[in-house]
Amino acid sequence: MTTPAVSTVVHARAPGKINVFLKVGALLDDGYHDVAIAYQAVSLYEDVRATAADDFSVRVGGTVELSRVPTDGSNIAIKAARLLARATGYRGGVRLHIDKHVPVTGGMGGGSADAAATLLACDTLWGTQLPREQMLALAGQLGSDVPFALTGGTAIGTGRGDQLSPALAKGQFHWVLALAEFGLSTPAVYNELDMHRDRHAQDIFPATTTPSVDANVLQALRAGDPLMLAETLYNDLQAPALHLQPSLSAVLELGENNGALAGIVSGSGPTVAFLVADHDGALELQTALEAAELTVVRASGPVHGARILSA
Ligand code: C5P
Repeated sequence: MTTPAVSTVVHARAPGKINVFLKVGALLDDGYHDVAIAYQAVSLYEDVRATAADDFSVRVGGTVELSRVPTDGSNIAIKAARLLARATGYRGGVRLHIDKHVPVTGGMGGGSADAAATLLACDTLWGTQLPREQMLALAGQLGSDVPFALTGGTAIGTGRGDQLSPALAKGQFHWVLALAEFGLSTPAVYNELDMHRDRHAQDIFPATTTPSVDANVLQALRAGDPLMLAETLYNDLQAPALHLQPSLSAVLELGENNGALAGIVSGSGPTVAFLVADHDGALELQTALEAAELTVVRASGPVHGARILSA
């Protein structure tokens, strides 16, 4: 508790993610669903710079559309800093500057990465030295995907998605991401799935309470084989996301007709993630999608989780 960072600015970085597999179980009494997720952290990063201050504030910049990012106490980075201060008894505040590169409300965990990088930056700035297990627990209180933004790499998430176990992965997978001009609210997409399941309760099997990740996904990740992984990409939130935003179907089709091995809505969307064979394949697909006037970024994964870059 007594070794604050030497420099006045601490710089932390955390990655966005793609869910290469996301199975949604039954709706629980607490409003959450049991899920089984295979997460891959990808090379789009959120950079958080933390400076000591008496109160809590945040400024936001970056390469993505920022109009949907709040800069008051509802920003998840402020919530993360306040939670850490409360948990450790730290009495001061922090001034945060976030440089965003993960699409906002895009289903790629940008807000979660902000929270993870903020926890780490403030812990270093304030010298609070929170044990890793406790930091993961605080991360889980902030959001289901925040623990994964701390750990990064490739992992299986169960429970709300916050109970993590590492998964073996070989090599690098290459992705082309088609960004949308609109956002999708995660609760709204889950809700759409629940309504669909209610409407068709007679025709579909009831959702299992403890879903699991298919063994084929784990095998494809272990083998580092994009063709195999393309066969196993799966997302229960894709259908409800497409229902809420039907224009995404044409995006998926465009990518798959232009060389993608497979396309999938990322998390609750609306970002569409295309898996390609290699770097050249990514460049070719990017060119084709940009010719159709889509906004596109390339990323690869897995990459490591939140870390301090300078202190
Ligand atoms: O945990 P997080 O804040 O990211 O969750 C946002 C919303 O997404 C929740 O309020 C809930 O509606 C939905 N959700 C869910 N089941 C999960 C994770 C999220 O229903 N496992």
